[in-house]
Amino acid sequence: MNFCKRQSQSLSTNVVRITSQKEIRANPCHPQKSAFHKLCDCFLRRNDFTKSIFFLNFTTKQIKQPMTFQNNREFAQELDAQDKLHHYRNEFLFPQVNGRKVIYFTGNSLGLQPKRTRAFVDEVMDDWAKLAVEGHFYSEKPWWDYHERFAEPLSKIVGALPSEVTVMNTLTVNLHLLMVSFYRPTAKKFKILCEAKAFPSDQYMFQSQVKFHGYNPDDAIVEIQRREGEHNIRLEDVLAKIEEIGDELALVLIGGVNYYTGQVFDIKTITEAGHKVGAYVGWDLAHAAGNIKLELHDWDVDFAAWCSYKYMNSGPGNASGCFIHEDHHDNYELNRFSGWWGQNKEKRFLMEPKFAPEPGANGWQISNLPVLTLAPYLASVEMFAEIGMEALIEKRDRITSYLEFILHEIDKEVNSTFEIITPSNPEERASQLSVFLHGEGRSLFEYLMTNGVITDWREPNVIRLAPVPLYCSFEDMYEFGQILKAGIQAHG
Ligand SMILES: Cc1ncc(COP(=O)(O)O)c(C=O)c1O
Repeated sequence: MNFCKRQSQSLSTNVVRITSQKEIRANPCHPQKSAFHKLCDCFLRRNDFTKSIFFLNFTTKQIKQPMTFQNNREFAQELDAQDKLHHYRNEFLFPQVNGRKVIYFTGNSLGLQPKRTRAFVDEVMDDWAKLAVEGHFYSEKPWWDYHERFAEPLSKIVGALPSEVTVMNTLTVNLHLLMVSFYRPTAKKFKILCEAKAFPSDQYMFQSQVKFHGYNPDDAIVEIQRREGEHNIRLEDVLAKIEEIGDELALVLIGGVNYYTGQVFDIKTITEAGHKVGAYVGWDLAHAAGNIKLELHDWDVDFAAWCSYKYMNSGPGNASGCFIHEDHHDNYELNRFSGWWGQNKEKRFLMEPKFAPEPGANGWQISNLPVLTLAPYLASVEMFAEIGMEALIEKRDRITSYLEFILHEIDKEVNSTFEIITPSNPEERASQLSVFLHGEGRSLFEYLMTNGVITDWREPNVIRLAPVPLYCSFEDMYEFGQILKAGIQAHG
């Protein structure tokens, strides 16, 4: 092992990747040059770290390492040996290609199936067989309030009070329903702010919502653009746009992690800025839930929704989670599209005509629960509860940086032309590196797939790589590098 570990004193919990900050380092007057970076400079001046990735992990008591990565199998295996989450890999079912487990990079699209999930589904199937309708009340996990089992574990995943989260429907459906409550345009205040190239489902949703309310999408939808030649949206541009729209802004609704680039937005700061101009602020957390640290309650987010089939491994097209800030729970002025599962549970089966909602986010429920689809989601949140977001995020950062290092190494070895378009600052990315294949293109993607690397292709020329910490190994990253190198050499 060639880890260079150092100790010093404590500052914060940020992880700073030094070699990614070349421009900042090179310029002593760079505005982003913090005390941290100056300290990093000291390390760099004293060492030749040109082929390495370094971290400074500032904690309140210590600064750990820097760590030098190596592009070889033994080193990757050593990282796996040190990985406290490595054994979770055995809890998942991997597809096989050429008789070997695949290297699975598409957990940001559909997570792998946890082995424990089948028992959760079988339980519901068995209860249905044995109890039929009585299963609603007399099964081990009664169906009528099955969703309440999610409150505690899910609240920890998204940083909420248990009463602020619920599970229901699917993601786009939930965002529509939440817009019923939180997009209430008036002639003066009718604009929606979103990111340019938002996930298409969100774009269609905005257009249809705006038209539903009688406005013109061209006037009402404002997109935050990337600057010429840049792949990611600058926070300062989001804030400036919010200020510019000002009183006319009714709603800010952005993807917390951009699906294409993997950019993580500063949810706290943007939410605060939206509130300053009197707008509601909601988040599409499809790529964020189970992936990044969220503090939805403390950040005063008004609402959010996410799917569970990506980082939370609940199965194809499965149920969505929702967050509604407690500040809104008793606001009966807000529209809600109601149904009997949102009715106060003490009264639900009295079948009375007056709607008196359940307290909290559960009051936004509409239909009888789809218990068979919630069962895999419950298996998943239980696994997250066992592990905790902190441990996941720690591994996520290390394995993502290792993947980035491997990409740079291969780039040097074969003199390729691909470009990582995900921010290099660990604070602005999570479990995804998007790689623009300038030269190699689609044939390289196909080479990867036929050689057991499952990634996905996004037009015009991007592959997305998500080294999901729950089941990807460091050795996978090394192995991927070797396959990538062979693929580039074959298609170069
Ligand atoms: C960012 C984002 N928003 C919305 C959706 C749509 O999700 P659903 O089809 O579950 O409504 C997706 C799906 O991948 C997504 O990635």
